[in-house]
Amino acid sequence: MDPATGQPRDTWGSKAAFILAAAGSAIGLGNIWGFPTVAGQNGGAAFLLIYLAAVAFIGAPVMLAELIVGRKTGLNPVGAFKALAPRTAWVFVGGLGVLTGLAILSFYSVIAGWTLSYIFKSAIGTFGPEADTAAIFAEVAGNPIRAIGWHFAFMALTIYVVLGGVRDGIERWTKVLMPVLFVLLAALAVRAVTLSGAAEGLEFYFKPDFSKVNGSVVLAAIGQAFFSLSLGMGAMITYGSYVSKRDDLVSSAAWVTAFDTSIAILAGLIIFPTLFHAGLEPGVGGPGMVFVVLTSLLSSIPPAPWGGIVFGTGFFMLLGIAALTSSVSLLEVPTSWAVDERGWSRKRAALLLGAIAFLLGIPSALANGAVPWLTSLPGVGTDFLSFLFTLFGQYSLVIGALLISLFVGWVWGVQAAGEEVRENDGKFPLGRLWAFLIRFICPIAIMAILLNLVWGLFGA
Ligand code: PFF
Repeated sequence: MDPATGQPRDTWGSKAAFILAAAGSAIGLGNIWGFPTVAGQNGGAAFLLIYLAAVAFIGAPVMLAELIVGRKTGLNPVGAFKALAPRTAWVFVGGLGVLTGLAILSFYSVIAGWTLSYIFKSAIGTFGPEADTAAIFAEVAGNPIRAIGWHFAFMALTIYVVLGGVRDGIERWTKVLMPVLFVLLAALAVRAVTLSGAAEGLEFYFKPDFSKVNGSVVLAAIGQAFFSLSLGMGAMITYGSYVSKRDDLVSSAAWVTAFDTSIAILAGLIIFPTLFHAGLEPGVGGPGMVFVVLTSLLSSIPPAPWGGIVFGTGFFMLLGIAALTSSVSLLEVPTSWAVDERGWSRKRAALLLGAIAFLLGIPSALANGAVPWLTSLPGVGTDFLSFLFTLFGQYSLVIGALLISLFVGWVWGVQAAGEEVRENDGKFPLGRLWAFLIRFICPIAIMAILLNLVWGLFGA
C-alpha cells in the first residue's frame, strides 16, 4: 500500500518487464566504461575468467538474496530490514543503501552528463582527424558551467523517468531504451572486430595469461561484479519489491546476471579491437579511455567523415542510455524509502531527492580541472569524484553485500528465504547450492576483499 495515495503498491507489468528493468539497472557505465578499463588493467583474458567466476559464485547468489528480501517484504531496503528483523540494528543496512544510492547517483550523473555532451559533439563532427580529443575532454569536464549544466540535464532526465513511477516510468522507458542499446552495441561490435589489427585485441581479450593473476586481480573482479550487477545497496531489494508473487525469482536473477555479463563482454569486444587497431595499450584508465582515446578512434572509422560521426554518436548514445536506466534505479532506492517510510508522494520524493543528489554532485562536477583542490584532494591524492567512487561505489557496496549475505544466510535464514522462492510454483532449483554460497562462499570472499581494501588503504 502506498501511504501517500492509499493505492496498492505499483508492480511490474510482467516478468519480462521486470527482467528488462533490472538488467537496465545493472547495465550501465560500469559495463561499458568500467569493465573494459578494469579488464585492461588486470591482464585481459585471465581477468575475464576470474570475473565470470565472481559473477557466478558471488554476484548471482547475492542478487537472488536481494530479490528475495524485496519480494518477501514488498518494501524499500529500510522497510524490508525493519519488517524481517524488527527493532534491530539491521535497519542500518537499509539506511546505508539509501545513502549510498544518493552518493553514487551524485557522481554517476556527472559522468553521464559528459556523455550527453559527447552525443552532440560527435553528431556535429567535432572529433574529426585533426581534433585534439584530450583538449576537448579537458574543456567539457573542466569548464564549471558546462560540467554542472550537463550534470543538471542528466539528473533532470533521471528524475523525469522516476516521477512516472514503476510501470509508467521505469518500465515504459527501459522497454524502449534497452532494445536500442542492444542494437547499437551489436552494430559497434561488428564494426570493431572487422577493423585492421582487431585480431591482436581479441587475442589479448580471450587468450588468458595466468602469470598476471594475483590477489588484487581477484579482488578487482569481485568489486567490479558488485558495482556492475547493482548489488550491495538494496537496488535489487527495491526492484524485487515490485515483483509479483507469481513470477519466478531464480530464473529472473539468472537472466539479469547473464544479460549484464554479456553486455560487459560485448563492450570489451568493442574496446579492445579498437584500441589495438590504433596501436594503443589497453589499461589506459578511467575517463581517459572512453572520452579521450576512444573518441578519436571512433571518429576515425572509415568512410570519413560519416563513419566517424555515425559510430561516435551511436557509441555515446549507447553510453547515455545505459547510464540512464541505471541512474533511475539509483534514485528509485531513496525515492521508495521516502514514499514507504516517510509517506511522501512520489513526486515530492523524486524531485527533492533528485535535487539533493544534484547538489551533492556539484563538487564531483568540479573535480576534473575546474577547481584544483577538488581535482587533486589534499591528503588523498585522487580527485573528488574518484574518491566518492572508492568510498561508495566500492567500500559501501562491498560492505552492504557482506551484510546482506550474512543477514539472509544466518539471521533471517535460508529456510525462510527458500519459502519465499517457492511461493509461486513450489520449486527452488539449485536451492542447496545457493544456500551454501550465500552462507559461506559470499561472506568469506567478501571479507577477503575488504581486508585487502583496508590493507591497500594503509599502504601495507
Ligand atoms: N550497475 C550500474 C553500472 O554498472 O553502471 C551502477 C549501479 C547502479 C550500481 C545501481 C549500484 C546500483 F545500485
